[in-house]
Amino acid sequence: MATLLGGLATSHIPAIGNAIAKGWQQEPYWKPFFDGFPPIHRWLEQVRPEVVVVFYNDHGLNFFLDKMPTFAVGAAAEYRNADEGWGIPTLPPLAGCPELSWQIIRHLVASEFDIVTCQEMLVDHACSLPLKLFWPTHEVAPVQIVPIDINTVQFPLPTARRVYQLGRAVGEAIAAWESDKRVLVMATGGLSHQLEGERAGFINKAFDQQFLESMVSNPEWATQFSDLELVERAGTQGVELLMWLAMRAALTRGGAGVRKVHGNYHIPISNTATGVLALECLA
Ligand code: DHB
Ligand code: FE
Repeated sequence: MATLLGGLATSHIPAIGNAIAKGWQQEPYWKPFFDGFPPIHRWLEQVRPEVVVVFYNDHGLNFFLDKMPTFAVGAAAEYRNADEGWGIPTLPPLAGCPELSWQIIRHLVASEFDIVTCQEMLVDHACSLPLKLFWPTHEVAPVQIVPIDINTVQFPLPTARRVYQLGRAVGEAIAAWESDKRVLVMATGGLSHQLEGERAGFINKAFDQQFLESMVSNPEWATQFSDLELVERAGTQGVELLMWLAMRAALTRGGAGVRKVHGNYHIPISNTATGVLALECLA
């Protein structure tokens, strides 16, 4: 059976891609953000994941408002990055893992999740940048990926409770996969931020810190909130923290708990309160 090693999470912000391309990691503005990663790089060298399931939210690239799935699972052999603008070097395509994609799809449908399956899927900064952040010395991350898109763009959003259930089911699918592969789950997005409207620039440090704490010790904490309650507390784009919830739920199978490998929180990068976290499965 496949081994579920643990979970990773990080914020995703297009400006990070620009900072990487320009080599600004040690600049005063960027250093507190990039300094959150080296301890996680060292852990990744030890645990050597081969496949990464990425919970991310498309921002209007592959799905637009006319057709917006609540949950979509990639089942492609490769995923081309087709993000917007900045004039930075184009990132090479990411390798897919169709075998795990279909294992997850079969398990989700059997578990009564009505998902969209995507044998072609363009990915944006929410998928490409985290892989660059966690594997900075590689031209392309040395892993295969299964991207899972969760709608945080057009209301109504899936409830936090439903996202948690989805994450659990994905964890079950990985654990039941007849493979000797070493698998990680990853979340990208959040933490609190709002890009538009009267509250543009809104950040909620107290809420973020409670949420980060819940990731380690009380994974169901955020399932108490409705989509609008999450908007109120975390901002219109802060709802991307639903990805973190799915990642964490995927690690609950077996009930053995997790160990926090490393975490960091830094305000702000662009308009966003940034978080990074690595969790190791204890089973
Ligand atoms: C920013 C944050 C995001 O999550 C995103 O998808 C795009 C931009 C920002 O803070 O600039
Ligand atoms: Fe985003």
